[in-house]
Amino acid sequence: MPIKRMWGGRFEEAGDQLVNQFNASISFDQEMAHEDIEGSLAHVKMLKETKILPATDADKIIAGLEKLSARLAKDGLPFSIDNEDIHMNIEALLTEEIGPVAGKLHTGRSRNDQVATDLHLYVKKRLPVIIDELKALQEELVIKAEDNVETIMPGYTHMQHAQPISYGHYLMAYFQMFQRDVERFAFNMKHADLSPLGAAALAGTTFPIDRQLSAKYLGFAKPYHNSLDAVSDRDFVLEFLSNASILMMHLSRLCEETIYWCSYEFGYIELADSYSTGSSIMPQKKNPDMAELIRGKTGRVFGDLMGLLTTMKGLPLAYNKDMQEDKEGLFDAVKTILPSIKIMRGMMATLKVKKDKMEHATHHDFSNATELADYLATKEIPFREAHEIVGELVLKGLKTGTNLADIPLAEYQKINPQIEEDVYTCLQPKVAVERRNSYGGTGFAQVREQIAEAKELLANNK
Ligand code: ARG
Repeated sequence: MPIKRMWGGRFEEAGDQLVNQFNASISFDQEMAHEDIEGSLAHVKMLKETKILPATDADKIIAGLEKLSARLAKDGLPFSIDNEDIHMNIEALLTEEIGPVAGKLHTGRSRNDQVATDLHLYVKKRLPVIIDELKALQEELVIKAEDNVETIMPGYTHMQHAQPISYGHYLMAYFQMFQRDVERFAFNMKHADLSPLGAAALAGTTFPIDRQLSAKYLGFAKPYHNSLDAVSDRDFVLEFLSNASILMMHLSRLCEETIYWCSYEFGYIELADSYSTGSSIMPQKKNPDMAELIRGKTGRVFGDLMGLLTTMKGLPLAYNKDMQEDKEGLFDAVKTILPSIKIMRGMMATLKVKKDKMEHATHHDFSNATELADYLATKEIPFREAHEIVGELVLKGLKTGTNLADIPLAEYQKINPQIEEDVYTCLQPKVAVERRNSYGGTGFAQVREQIAEAKELLANNK
């Protein structure tokens, strides 16, 4: 006996098995089972309220859906590939529960608005969870930054020692990056918070449905204005994937530095044993696998974004089956970013900062060269000229192995008799950092200011 398909009325031949498999999405769209039942409940309640369905029928359907919801939460539901996707599986199970009256549920809607509704609900539900995880990571960064306001490290440009900075300042830069991620995900809500339900297949319906009401039941801000747009818009998913990609890019940059900095050559930090792994052949190894994995997983999230952008490109209005491909990438991105944020938080919370090693790296370099040039500029030497003078001192120092702080005062006074003993204070990395007190700079007072503002943001859950 060929299987009976829900849309099988106009077909004479049974489906090919491979075609049925290829067509089916139940293996992955069961991820939205809760959302699907939720959407159906709102729809049938609206059908009841508008008297499109008699209350007795609607109540049977409501009771059946509630039963399915409870079964799903308790033991899961027995989905079958014969029923193609989550929508038809739920309807088939509802029919098993309450009989043919289940067939009235689909009045005035289509799978096209149904799947879009499920997807909106799915994204809406995950956004606050992701924001909360990001906030927890930000809190950890603030705690670490507070402990390290006066921890001096080399600041880099082009991966070359540039100017000494506060490690707390460095951590707060990531705080700011994650703050923008939080704000982007919060904005994502605006476009996720629209109800496609009732747009039906593409053109609306002749039934006197109340889209505002079903939107309200589902907690959506409002229905989509245009039925064609409602069923074919996946911008909110693309925005999600784009936000997720930018977030992963941020995490990946932090991972990259973490990997460098726990290497022998840098030795600025040491990861906790619990966030490291060993080697099966080299007994001495302690590897930063978690950081590498997050960096690696960035690629798959970028892939999720590129995949859907490419799928959507060139799709005519309205629904096309191509859009069934919108789900796996989204689910994958959610399942990738959540543990990545959590792992990053744990890694940051438990890593040991080797403050001496960090500061030491700033003593045997020329990262105080700007300080000297700035100092000369205060002695009425134009900055350009000061830059040239210091450049020559650096060149000489590199050849003779002399740091700027080791040049005797007499030598300095040959350059300019106004140079005094205080030049050596300026050249100390810690002093150099402390004095960079322009707004948003690495000066200790500025870093403390940033931390105070960050705490306020966190306290207000902004
Ligand atoms: N499984 C389908 C999807 O995910 C549901 C919508 C099907 N609509 C249709 N007209 N075939 O996109």
